[in-house]
Parts: sequence; structure tokens; C-alpha cells
Amino acid sequence: MKMKKLIAAVLMTACVCSMAACGSKDSGDGEKESGGEGKDTLVMATNAEFPPYEFHEGDDIVGIDAEMAAAVAEELGMEFKIEDMAFDSIIPAVQSGKADIGVAGMTVTEDRLKNVNFSDTYATATQVVIVKEDSDIAGPDALTGKKVGVQLGTTGDIYASDIKDAEVEQYNKGFEAVQALTQGKIDAVVIDGEPAKEFVKEAEGLKILDEAFTEEEYAIAISKDNEELLEKVNGALKTLKDSGKLDEIVAKYIKADAE
Ligand code: ARG
Repeated sequence: MKMKKLIAAVLMTACVCSMAACGSKDSGDGEKESGGEGKDTLVMATNAEFPPYEFHEGDDIVGIDAEMAAAVAEELGMEFKIEDMAFDSIIPAVQSGKADIGVAGMTVTEDRLKNVNFSDTYATATQVVIVKEDSDIAGPDALTGKKVGVQLGTTGDIYASDIKDAEVEQYNKGFEAVQALTQGKIDAVVIDGEPAKEFVKEAEGLKILDEAFTEEEYAIAISKDNEELLEKVNGALKTLKDSGKLDEIVAKYIKADAE
């Protein structure tokens, strides 16, 4: 192996190993690597900018999706690893086999179903509108002609682009859209309800409108070429739902509204 290539390989292995117990990496021909004790590794692609589903805590990626997927891997007797990436890279990563599952508070949509399979759903969600506390925007209908911030490639992005005469500003992270709103650069943010609550809690002078945009359902994205994994993941999800483990994970991250 040439020196440059060797260094690249060492660096790659270093990143790859940082999340979980690491196994021997193969020669890079796209074959699955295996973890300790010869176990296969379940690789989860996500975008860890989406509390309470996935977010950074120190060097770790935590949240409902991270813990749920780790529990799925455990059910399947697999090692587990998370790959953090841009939200719109997740489906391509699943399609190419770079990751086995995409878990990112990802809404099941007709369009995405053309590219990947989805597991059974594990959460219902809404798209909400965040505005400044003193905003005259009272509901989604009042977004006509406004500057609306979204996270690139999300369903919020898709809905916002349907608003008449709205100017849609796409950000790489939902948090950046909320920041732009605080700074008065945009008029509103369309984003999923639970992350909205987290972001508004951390910001000054913002509120979430009572009227939600839409209802959606989250599920795990899996390659269309891997029906077997789809069935296994659905089986594991069912076990986690039936045992109350999934509820337990959710309750850890979403406290019942105390207001
Ligand atoms: N539910 C929305 C969608 O599927 C947003 C998901 C964003 N997730 C994330 N991890 N950044 O498009």
C-alpha cells in the first residue's frame, strides 16, 4: 500500500471506530465489516442536529433514535455504529450500502419510498411554525409572501416551498434557521414539533404557533435491496414496542409538557 493510501486508511478507521467498539475493517471493497466476536455491525446514518431524536452530547451522539437503533442492534445480536452526515446524504448512504439504516426523525414520504423502504413507524410528528413572540403571523396561512427558514431537504423544506410567494431559506442545520429567525433575518421557521420545542427553549423571544402544519410519521429507512434486514428491524421494533422499552427511551428524552 502506498503511504498516502495507508494514512487515509488509518484515518478512516480512526473515525469509523470512534463511536462504538470497533472491529477489523475489510479491504474497503464495500463488504460488511464485523465487530468483536465476529458480529456484524449495524451502521446507522443520521444527522445529529435534531434534538431530542439525535444530537451531540460531548463526543457522543445521543437521543431517541440513537438509543432505539442501538436497542434494535442489540436485539439482532449486532454491533452498532453511528455515522453523522448531512440530512440529505442519509438516503444516498442507505442506498449505496454505506449505512444499513437511516434513522433521523425521518418522515415517510411517497418520494422517499421510491428510493428506500421504510420500517414500521415508531413515532408521529408534526411540522410547526416558529415565529418571534411579537410576530403578526398567527398561523400557517399567514406565511404567504414571507421569508421562511427550513433545514435543507426536510419535509419542512418541501412544505415551505408550496407556500405562495414565500421566500424559502435553506439551512444545513435546523438550529441555524432558528438562529436566523432570532436575528431577524427571516420571518418564520417550519420544522418538526419536538426539535422546535428544544430550539425555542434555548432561544430568546420565540414561540411556536398553536396551529400545526401537518401530521407525519417517522420510520427507519432501509435499502430496497435488503428485504431481510427490513423484516428483522420490524421484528426488533415490535419487541421494543411490546416490552415498553421504546416508551422508556422516549420518556427519557421527551418530558410530558409541564406548562
Ligand atoms: N422529519 C423531517 C423529514 O423527514 C425532518 C427530519 C430531520 N432530521 C434530522 N436528523 N435532521 O424531512
